[in-house]
Amino acid sequence: MTGKICGTGSYTPSFTMDNHDIAKLVDTSDEWIQERTGVIRRHIIQEETTVSMACEAGRRALENAKMSADEIDLILVSTISSNVVIPCTACEVQKELGAVNATCFDLSAACTGFVIAYNTALSYITAGIYKNVLVIGSESLSNLTNWKDRGTCILFGDGAGAAVVKACDQKTYIPVTHSDGASGEALKCSSRYDRNGLTKKVIPEEWMDNRYLMQMDGRAVFKFAVKSVPQAVEEVLDKNQIQKDEIVWYILHQANRRIVESVAKRLGESIEKFPMNLQEYGNTSSASIPILLDEMNRSGKLKKGQKIVLAGFGAGLTWGASILEWCL
Ligand code: UT7
Repeated sequence: MTGKICGTGSYTPSFTMDNHDIAKLVDTSDEWIQERTGVIRRHIIQEETTVSMACEAGRRALENAKMSADEIDLILVSTISSNVVIPCTACEVQKELGAVNATCFDLSAACTGFVIAYNTALSYITAGIYKNVLVIGSESLSNLTNWKDRGTCILFGDGAGAAVVKACDQKTYIPVTHSDGASGEALKCSSRYDRNGLTKKVIPEEWMDNRYLMQMDGRAVFKFAVKSVPQAVEEVLDKNQIQKDEIVWYILHQANRRIVESVAKRLGESIEKFPMNLQEYGNTSSASIPILLDEMNRSGKLKKGQKIVLAGFGAGLTWGASILEWCL
């Protein structure tokens, strides 16, 4: 017993900012951003929230799966940018969609979040605990972005993607996931610091500008990604006795075109197997993989029986890879 994806959905805000818009905020240029990252524009929330985008992506995934909300028995939302601390985004999605039979919780693993949420769904299904799981990645990273820092604000965008994972009798593929908390300083955002009023801690003025917002050692994260992602992919293939030529698509977290190209090169695989949409959305953290999966599904690129690798990496540090067989 394992799970198969039987529907996908996504939502991205209609408002966009291109590189020229970013160049009005910080000292950068369209040429630099395109050359160093591949990003051309990003979609940014206006009226939308992490919850509203998660709901819309989830609704579209259910429609695509031809399932009703009350058939879902688990909703998992991966997010680092929830609107509120409680209730969790997954419970808000349950309320909006009317998924009255679902257990709901959020998961925080940054840009590896969708891969880990997908693995969690499979684990529950394999254990016989749940049958139909709605897995969502939804992020309003624009709320956490320091729009005065050219080292980060060029990269990120907002959006949500979702997949319905249903119990089936297919072969189970064992995923690979890793974490390195000791290197977590490379990408951080300390918005929930101690401010209970009882500890008498004084909040330094500069924290208001910086610690509330994402801080990244871009070079360190880049180096980590280009080393750890190929290793995780090799490991997951090895663990499941799958050869590279059996893999049709590598759907990677969309962080930077140069990272994707470097991973393809290190794996000795054609870049054609690595679809990208980061030029349109930037880095949407845990939403990037399901948005790309949904675009590929809806454009007919994914065919029944194709073997696909999903691979994520990011803050934590966390990284991992999973293999799935397309069933639609
Ligand atoms: O989801 C996972 C999380 N994040 C990532 O995956 C991000 C991984 N890292 C990256 O994508 C890249 O490191 C960045 C795109 C963030 C930066 O690119 P880079 O090629 O690593 O640039 P750099 O930080 O090494 O900076 C090179 C130069 C520096 O100037 P000097 O010191 O050589 O004179 C920077 O000051 O480029 C300068 N620079 C910029 N120039 C124009 C840095 N950011 C910008 C900018 N526009 N936006």
